[in-house]
Amino acid sequence: MKYKNSEMIYKKAINIIPGGVNSPVRAFKSVKRSHPIFVKKGLGSKIWDEDNNEYIDYICSWGPLILGHNHPRVLNGVKEAIELGSSFGLPTKMEVELAEMVCKCYPSMDMIRFTTSGTEATMAAIRVARAYTNRNKILKFEGCYHGHSDALLVSSGSGLLTDGYQDSNGITEGVLRDTLVVPFGDIEGVKEILSKEDIACIIMEPVPANMGLIHSEGKFLEEVRKVCDDTKTLLIFDEVISGFRLALGGAQEIFKIKPDLTTLGKIIGGGYPVGAFGGRRDIMEMIAPVGRVYHAGTLSGNPVAVRAGIETVGYLMENKESIYKTLEENVDYLTDKIKEFSKEYDVPVCINKFGSLFTIFFTDKEKVEVLKDAMEASEEMYAIYFNTMLEGGIVTPPSKYEAHFISLAHTKEDLNRTLEVMEKAFKNIKECYNGRK
Ligand SMILES: Cc1ncc(COP(=O)(O)O)c(C=O)c1O
Repeated sequence: MKYKNSEMIYKKAINIIPGGVNSPVRAFKSVKRSHPIFVKKGLGSKIWDEDNNEYIDYICSWGPLILGHNHPRVLNGVKEAIELGSSFGLPTKMEVELAEMVCKCYPSMDMIRFTTSGTEATMAAIRVARAYTNRNKILKFEGCYHGHSDALLVSSGSGLLTDGYQDSNGITEGVLRDTLVVPFGDIEGVKEILSKEDIACIIMEPVPANMGLIHSEGKFLEEVRKVCDDTKTLLIFDEVISGFRLALGGAQEIFKIKPDLTTLGKIIGGGYPVGAFGGRRDIMEMIAPVGRVYHAGTLSGNPVAVRAGIETVGYLMENKESIYKTLEENVDYLTDKIKEFSKEYDVPVCINKFGSLFTIFFTDKEKVEVLKDAMEASEEMYAIYFNTMLEGGIVTPPSKYEAHFISLAHTKEDLNRTLEVMEKAFKNIKECYNGRK
């Protein structure tokens, strides 16, 4: 692989964009590379960089591209929408269409509001929860990421963890005081806080995927639901990743739990900028112009993005019987082999998987269940894995704290090619560690 053009672009980028990137994980820092690859195009399961290197992609834009890059149905829909205009600042019929489609898949959502990102969706959902309950404090779980609004950058996952910290600077003490945190799965911790404090809402990824993928138990989610009911605390499921990915109706469909509010993003925009929050009518009707909780956006419900969402969600609704099964089978195909490599090359791994998501933790631990377990997994081994994969033409997450995303465009041929390179990665890790003994 040659990276001359990417390197040249990066040299310009670091002078003008902090770290050379517009979202920190893209910098490839924790996987010990001097610069990221700059992507030129994507099609199906593949992307190409500015040096024309071809890669099978396991990032898939961090989730939106469940159908793969530039799926023909999405592309055609977007082309049609663009012809009609880019943005109006006035409502369009398509927003209502997507709203109806999403609410049909999420029975907990009587009403929905579109935003431009997942960050805006969680930020607005919390504002509504505070107004509804007349309480200030919120509770989140360690290592869960809910976007980059102030209140949620406390004990956060994703890019913060990757760069070795969890609370962002630049957040007022007041905001920090109002966000309480417990480890994921710690129901006693949740109960204790809710018995002592007035909490507006619990916000959680029902299946955490931003400290690597973390196993989630229906029993825990049920208990959280119950303690929320007992204390009149609202429950927000942040399904920005899990929504339409684990099942059409997200984690709430799988675990049969109704949150009061749900946040969505990624897949509902089919690769274009959309987020959404929605839930019970009596809560949602607090939002302006019906009520006095303000939420707005110049590009909220942008027609091009909404059309991409309609096509993506439409495709998933029409093919739901086969899609989720196929994706899961393909993940199993990869992870079963990875377990074999682990044994053969004596490289310890714990693999967490759910539907079309999986994370390989290089660790002796049998289970990775909380942030602490994920933090103890080897970053060094992950870096060898990542770099071997990249050199072999496979893009995997440039952080041990993220999940691999698989799309419908990934073929058996792609998976077999991926496994060939993965085997090499395990060999490299073994050689590197044996050499040190
Ligand atoms: C669970 C979760 N919530 C919220 C967000 C924020 O979404 P966005 O990046 O669109 O602002 C993310 C982003 O990865 C996420 O994974």
